[in-house]
Amino acid sequence: MTASTSRRSVIAAAGAATAAVSLAACSSDSGGGESKDTGSGEGGGDGGGGDAAGGALGKASEIPEGGGKVFKDQKVVVTRPSANEYKAFDSTCTHQGCAVKEITGGNIVCPCHNSKFDINDGSPTGGPAKKPLAPKKVVVEGGEIKLA
Ligand code: FES
Repeated sequence: MTASTSRRSVIAAAGAATAAVSLAACSSDSGGGESKDTGSGEGGGDGGGGDAAGGALGKASEIPEGGGKVFKDQKVVVTRPSANEYKAFDSTCTHQGCAVKEITGGNIVCPCHNSKFDINDGSPTGGPAKKPLAPKKVVVEGGEIKLA
């Protein structure tokens, strides 16, 4: 946490410095000179990456019944075993860590060594993986699938 915070501060500071330089370049005759550190590099250190928390993944209707969909950026695969039932799993294959890629024939399939996982519970149904995909929680609110 500390490392990432300080890295962020450094990046913010670099950004502020760049902004100050370009500002100075643009307004050379306005006498602003030192431009008073408006950037405050410390700001926003607490954020803690809440981007995905509670974030909507997409419309529930986009998940085909008897199938599913992989949300690559969120590293989650959402399945829909039946009309009103949605399940979610970490998209990281339990064999060697590839990202699962598609859902076919009631299975979530990893492209690396062809491991397959049941869309109902993430349990391995074929290939070299022996452990189930890690479950995640999702809710459907207002027709949207959201990470819980
Ligand atoms: S990493 Fe998924 S099958 Fe090997």
